[in-house]
Amino acid sequence: MFEELPLLPPDSILGLAAECRADPNPDKVDLTIGIYMDESGNCPVFNAVRLAQRQLVDEEQTKSYIPPQGDPQFIEGLVELVVGSDALGVRSGNVGAVQAPGGCGAVRLGAEVLKASGTKGKVWVSDPTWPVHVPLITSSGLELGQYRYYDPATHGVDFAAMTDDLAAAGTGDIVLLHGCCHNPSGADLTPEQWREIAGMAASQGFTPMVDLAYQGFGEGLDTDVYGLRCLIEQVPEVVVAASLSKNMGLYRERTGMAIFVGPNSRTAEATVSQAKAAARRIYSMPPAHGALLAGRVLGDPVLRADWEAELTAMCVRINGLRLEFQKRLENATGRDFGFIAKEKGMFSFLGLSEEQAKQVRSEHGLYMLNSSRINIASLNAGNMDRVVAAVTSVL
Ligand code: LMR
Repeated sequence: MFEELPLLPPDSILGLAAECRADPNPDKVDLTIGIYMDESGNCPVFNAVRLAQRQLVDEEQTKSYIPPQGDPQFIEGLVELVVGSDALGVRSGNVGAVQAPGGCGAVRLGAEVLKASGTKGKVWVSDPTWPVHVPLITSSGLELGQYRYYDPATHGVDFAAMTDDLAAAGTGDIVLLHGCCHNPSGADLTPEQWREIAGMAASQGFTPMVDLAYQGFGEGLDTDVYGLRCLIEQVPEVVVAASLSKNMGLYRERTGMAIFVGPNSRTAEATVSQAKAAARRIYSMPPAHGALLAGRVLGDPVLRADWEAELTAMCVRINGLRLEFQKRLENATGRDFGFIAKEKGMFSFLGLSEEQAKQVRSEHGLYMLNSSRINIASLNAGNMDRVVAAVTSVL
């Protein structure tokens, strides 16, 4: 059977990260994958996670399965972090949540539940979006649509085009939005634009699905979910795919959650039952370790304060890197890179062509995606000059 099996090309993100790892060039710089790196080029374990892990190692009595819905302390803590206590106060009985293996697992569970609703509608994704959204959604059997989002000419959101396209979305359709720190562009909606999208969802009847993978990396834990909370206030049904890979540094622990906000407690129970059944048929049980750590961090006031402070410092550092990178690129090229400081989170499109992106890779060992998406959080004082010189050389 394997004789005829086609060999697939490498993943567009993971493949380039692997190529960079294999490159013997001592001056190489990896700006491919979305991982937070500190000044020394290390992806750190949060102090609060380290402490929680010590506690867990001392106290853990079993490696038996956790409940199929997930660890209760983790569910309570993350739902509160994402939905917020105000919205929870009003709609708490209407929220169903199921732990998932990372944000990917959460998107897939969300898509499975939406498919099970019998909808004939499409899932509209932004152009561009994170490439893995496409297989995650279509493997549930849902159809895909696209709305215009990013305008390379302005390096910003083309909101008029977005709303023009979404004017065609109606009941049964799902619109996938990035909660904050849009991946791959870094271009986010303003609060006014979020309110307009929420109004459109409420009046046209489409269901927002929010991929929330970077809460806390844009401006802050609450500010970054302003848009999501507007949706929850105004729209009867909202799906959220939340991930703690980045904002708690739990990448390899696959720690995420599918959250379903519905009109009543029966819908909450139904969504949970469907998500659990989907999980059972795809991978059976949720992985425990990351959720047990996150539940402790979110539920313990001391660990939580420690985590929030470290996350805030990361966010401040990324925004500082954005300003510094903008300044140095402008000094070196005489061009306007103001968009870099305006964007949010880890990512930015530098605006290079695919050829230029490949040229900086082969000639300077500077690895960015072919789309010229870079991970700002991989820049540091030691590599920034090299990155600026490499980019300038191809402009
Ligand atoms: C990215 O976009 O680089 C990250 O979300 C990591 C991944 O899995 O692609």
